[in-house]
Amino acid sequence: MISLNLPKWYDLHVHVRQDAPMKDYIKAQIDMGCAGILAMPNTKPPVGKVFEKDNLPYWSIEHYKRAIEFHADGAFDQVIVPLYLTKDTSADMIEEGAKSGLLKACKYYPPHGTTNSDHGRPLQNFMDNGVFKAMEECGVTLCIHGEEHGLSGSDYFDNSGNAETKFYHDKMPHLYESHPSLKIVAEHITTAAAVKFVKGTGKNVAATVTPQHLLYTVGHLVQGFRYHLFCLPLVKFDEDRQALREAVTAIDNDKFFAGTDSAPHTTKATPCGCAAGCFTGQIAPQLYAEGFEAAGCDLNTEDAAKAFEKFLCLNGPAFYGFPPSKERFTLTREKSLSKPLQTESGAVVPLPVGLERPELDWSLVLE
Ligand code: DOR
Ligand code: ZN
Repeated sequence: MISLNLPKWYDLHVHVRQDAPMKDYIKAQIDMGCAGILAMPNTKPPVGKVFEKDNLPYWSIEHYKRAIEFHADGAFDQVIVPLYLTKDTSADMIEEGAKSGLLKACKYYPPHGTTNSDHGRPLQNFMDNGVFKAMEECGVTLCIHGEEHGLSGSDYFDNSGNAETKFYHDKMPHLYESHPSLKIVAEHITTAAAVKFVKGTGKNVAATVTPQHLLYTVGHLVQGFRYHLFCLPLVKFDEDRQALREAVTAIDNDKFFAGTDSAPHTTKATPCGCAAGCFTGQIAPQLYAEGFEAAGCDLNTEDAAKAFEKFLCLNGPAFYGFPPSKERFTLTREKSLSKPLQTESGAVVPLPVGLERPELDWSLVLE
């Protein structure tokens, strides 16, 4: 039986939300061997200021980070909360936040482009007001949701392009040229265009990849409209998935790493639409292992196991500048079952259950 003993890993893009279910979402991360998280700031209100004392109508990194650490009860050795970039973000905020050590990253949301992204502002705003310049100078990472916003339906998604390819063709090269030393994480990338962009940049640009984008294509979503697979950016085409698979499984990969974008919603489908987000808490390493196998990797071989460890456990910490975990966990190639997560606000359906494939090929054991 194949068994992979690995350092605990870091989920460098996850939504743990707020209020009562937050503790359950954090426990779901800990139960799958997470040594730390980068927790998304699209709460209500968003995490749009660094310090509690700042007179702005947002949550602070100080407050949100403390809440996460309280629920994690010592289980996380790294918690990064990026600052949500809003109309109120200034270069001074970046400088003071970075100096204090609290501000490690900022998050760009395309305005109205995804869940709780209404406080987002166009990318150009932060080029014009000196925010990106300050981030570049202070070594603060830009976590970027790379989709063009405000597009009509056919520009948003059709067979000649989509919001993500448009963003990586039209916006990212200009951003990179204007701020060549800015640390950028191209988040939850889904397209061959994004992979190509990231590969063509220096060491200061990296990307996260989710399990669902390694495993599925848009055909899996629309065949029977499997709305549990509806997330943003959308799953794409086979050639995109192939580019992602090649990027993450390459033995010399040091730019692509795990960030699940696990995004729990207790209500996914509503009478007038569907909440975007796949929940992969409790089971993400198992799904990533399935993704590597689907890409043709035999995880019983030393090279494939090493590439998997780099993607899941090593590249992310190296990019963000902290050491890999000293604690370990084990994945074995034994069937296990994925189950809904019960929270005080209702049940959350994990992706494989939503796809009526609750049986996983891998099991996870914590030491
Ligand atoms: O699918 C998504 N869900 N994409 C995002 O960008 C946000 C996330 C959420 O917060 O639910
Ligand atoms: Zn996200």
